Amino acid sequence: MKKVILTGDRPTGKLHLGHYVGSLKSRVMFQNTGNYDMYVFIADLQALTDNARNPEKIRNSLLEVALDYLAVGLDPNKITFFVQSQIPELTELTIHYMNLVTLARLKRNPTIKTEINERGFKEAVPVGFLTYPISQAADITAFKADLVPVGDDQLPLIEQCKEIVHTFNNLYGNILKEPEAVLADNKACTRLPGIDGKAKMSKSLNNCIYLSDTKEEVKNKVMSMYTDPNHIRVEDPGKIEGNTVFTYLDAFATDEHFKKYLPEYKNLDELKEHYQRGGLGDVKVKKFLLAIIEELLEPMRERRAYYKEHIDLVYNMLEEGSKKARKVAQNTLKEVRDAIGINYFDKKAN
Ligand code: TRP
Repeated sequence: MKKVILTGDRPTGKLHLGHYVGSLKSRVMFQNTGNYDMYVFIADLQALTDNARNPEKIRNSLLEVALDYLAVGLDPNKITFFVQSQIPELTELTIHYMNLVTLARLKRNPTIKTEINERGFKEAVPVGFLTYPISQAADITAFKADLVPVGDDQLPLIEQCKEIVHTFNNLYGNILKEPEAVLADNKACTRLPGIDGKAKMSKSLNNCIYLSDTKEEVKNKVMSMYTDPNHIRVEDPGKIEGNTVFTYLDAFATDEHFKKYLPEYKNLDELKEHYQRGGLGDVKVKKFLLAIIEELLEPMRERRAYYKEHIDLVYNMLEEGSKKARKVAQNTLKEVRDAIGINYFDKKAN
């Protein structure tokens, strides 16, 4: 049997380059091996846990995220795409798992702690938000996922899911599968900084390059990127550490890019060395980065434009995928109900 890969995104806005290098890129890679049974889903219920008063935002983002998936080259013939809210079995699984997790454990989850701080919830955190790691465990286990490609901020959630799997299996028998997180292979990719050099691309910081940005927008953003503030004249030595343009090159540049756009350097090490020595201007490095990003985004724009013209195809893909995924979740839920013993009227169980 093929291994199962599952991953999802909250629909709270358009996806950006951080999502691409952190997770979308590896999804395309896994897809193209043909060796996996893949599910990619839009976690609208999870997005609602801190947007209950603004459901329009989630509703509008659903399509944006679906278009981003198709734009990066994820293929509905190879992947089952679904929408979390269309699979009620996930919600019942969540209820069963809730009995296996303590409030103290939820409050200790580092990702949740950070997010509660970022949102300024303090004690007024919605119960649905605090407990979304349990619902995320339901997402993962419903499909018996082996691998979950995610950003490193998701590791505590996968950890919590594993604990739930252990507790459940110990209590009720070996039903659930323990998942494994898959991280991007390079540090720059795991946590791509914003164009302002801030820790992470984030919509609220207004420092993202979106996969759907126009050529003009991308150009303006790359040309305004944070570099080394002390690298004033071209002949000055420059710093690589904390220099966003070089962090992006770490994430995106290949030797082929050098051959194509900057043949006077063999690879990134040579370029870095020149920059550190002095005599290499920011504009030249930024133009190189821009060429690389454009090479990546241009085909995405074309695919996105096609599906925007054929939006019924996108809805159809989500609807059909949700039906298919629901069957899988129904099977798992049945096993879970049987294991707990809440199958009173099932003739075979009596
Ligand atoms: N928490 C993920 C995010 O913030 C979304 C998500 C929900 C998810 N359920 C998941 C990711 C299951 C991987 C597996 O984007």
